[in-house]
Amino acid sequence: MDPNDPSLATLCAQLGVPSTYLTQGFEAGIRKRQALFKQLVAHRRMPDQGWDDETIEGVLHDLAMMDSNNFLDNVGVGEREARIYSSLVRRRHFGLGHGMGRSGDVNEPQPKAAGSSLLVKLTNFLALDAVRLAGLTRMQDCVVLPLATGMAMTMTLLTLRRDAEENEKEEEEASRLRSTAPPPYSSPVSEPPLPPSRPHYVIFPRIDQKSCLKAIVTAGLTPLLLPPLLSPPTDELQTNLPLLLSLLQAPPTRGGKRILAILSTTSCFAPRAPDDIVAIARLASQYNVPHIINNAYGLQCSKTMHLINEACRVGRVDAVVQSTDKNFLVPVGGSVVVSPAPRGREGGREGGRGKEEESVGGEVEGREGEEAEAPSVANGKGKGEITTTPRTTNSSSSNNNITPTLPIPPPPPPSSLVTRLCKMYPGRANATPLHDLFITLLSLGRSGYLCLLKERKTLLPLMREGLRTIAEKHGGRLLSTHGNTISFAITLEGLLVREGEEGREEEEEELSFLGAMLFTRGVSGTRVVIPARSSSLPSSSSKMKKVAGLLFAGYGSHSDERYPPGAYLTAACALGVRKEEVEEFLKRLDRAMGDFRKKREKERMRKMKEEEQKEEKKEEEEEAEEGETL
Ligand SMILES: Cc1ncc(COP(=O)(O)O)c(C=O)c1O
Repeated sequence: MDPNDPSLATLCAQLGVPSTYLTQGFEAGIRKRQALFKQLVAHRRMPDQGWDDETIEGVLHDLAMMDSNNFLDNVGVGEREARIYSSLVRRRHFGLGHGMGRSGDVNEPQPKAAGSSLLVKLTNFLALDAVRLAGLTRMQDCVVLPLATGMAMTMTLLTLRRDAEENEKEEEEASRLRSTAPPPYSSPVSEPPLPPSRPHYVIFPRIDQKSCLKAIVTAGLTPLLLPPLLSPPTDELQTNLPLLLSLLQAPPTRGGKRILAILSTTSCFAPRAPDDIVAIARLASQYNVPHIINNAYGLQCSKTMHLINEACRVGRVDAVVQSTDKNFLVPVGGSVVVSPAPRGREGGREGGRGKEEESVGGEVEGREGEEAEAPSVANGKGKGEITTTPRTTNSSSSNNNITPTLPIPPPPPPSSLVTRLCKMYPGRANATPLHDLFITLLSLGRSGYLCLLKERKTLLPLMREGLRTIAEKHGGRLLSTHGNTISFAITLEGLLVREGEEGREEEEEELSFLGAMLFTRGVSGTRVVIPARSSSLPSSSSKMKKVAGLLFAGYGSHSDERYPPGAYLTAACALGVRKEEVEEFLKRLDRAMGDFRKKREKERMRKMKEEEQKEEKKEEEEEAEEGETL
């Protein structure tokens, strides 16, 4: 209904509804809502205040009506007509059936689906706004993928891999052209033979979360694990920078592999600390190695946001990946991949384009941050200029003696990793995770999202101090992991009832029942971790765990070392948790730990009694035997 159409208003009034009523209805009920949508399209950011469900539903409905599957009298004779059999499914998707993207680019609008395409564009803008609002102010390009974090990292790495392979081909071609030898053959049809593509390494500061490792392996890459550094007197497991530096200085060359990227992690469960991404970014820039940050649920932590900004300012960050469910409270299935504004003048900084870049990389380091702040500058012309050795635009012309002194067109401005990822994505994609995010971000508004972030922060002391009190009450302690403000860990040694070392290992293993006990008491999300025992290294295969083809000792504790020394339990103060939940969790944990110990003690007493009884029986039998022989 178009409330601005005066003839419609007149016709409505002719039905006997007073025009004053109609004006009020049109204004408050329809025009205001239309104005909200117009603002959204114009400003491309989250509304300051969240929208009501009816407005969101109205927008979704209108957008859906702009797709061909909802046109009146449409006749679809293609094979991709967004036909939906079940009305239930249709309602679940608001009649939006075209998904997102086209075969050439997952971010490209579809001619048949103007509404769906608008929705995708708007969601990407809203997500970028939310990411910036959370603190990642340096991000410029953003795509919401209908893939959870692990798969989004795989796609990101695959994009880097493809870039690297293309660059290798270019290098190969360039060196062939430089050589005086005639080309191997001159067939205009077939391509010259290319070297087999080389597998690549990804440097991976160890985090014991399987998706992270599988993301690397699934992309056909080889992880180079960096074991963490212990950091006494704190309990944190920190990034092993000396080892990272030595790997960058002298990369392994087995099988001709090259280092493709560094994959760092900012959100993890204690006692692992978020990686030192600022130092990693500096090294990545210095050694011209792409750097991907897995920020799975890090948006909620302002400290991490600051560090990522700083990493972009002083070093190299190619993309940051975060999950939609953990950061925006939607069902699992999406991720937000963002890239910072391109830095300075280097062309194609993510792919490692060769020597020209290596010489430019260090020069521009100081200015990168300032440029990154201005979106109009990023990707703009004039920044991507690199003085290159003259070369012709295609190899066959150079072979045909066209003078290589023609004016050389400047190389195109570097596209961000996000842009290249979208182009590489094979085919269209499911847009449901984007719909969920669109609805949620409009529903929250900026104030709602900031409120969520603040609420979590407010609950941190309650969680931290509550855990400390309970741990100490039960003979343990809160691990000192100040760098991690999402996850906390308490030690469980106070729950062990046996004295001495005998049977300790077995008893420690039994501590994992505490997690099960909590689960049956309605507490989800805690983990009981039992670090490796030195005796289990490296030969005791029963204690080793294979993940993505690699063997680990003490998997789950991020380290092969027995560190911290003994079992511990982790819990998170994550976005969306409510005060009552934290309070109830602390109560249940306290009770469960008490019950666990009592149970253990009872068990121990029962076993001791059984032993005593056995002893007594044995003695009696021996006495009886002695009596008989006498
Ligand atoms: C650090 C980290 N990375 C990656 C993931 C994988 O996330 P997803 O299940 O969204 O792929 C998780 C899951 O919690 C995680 O904690």
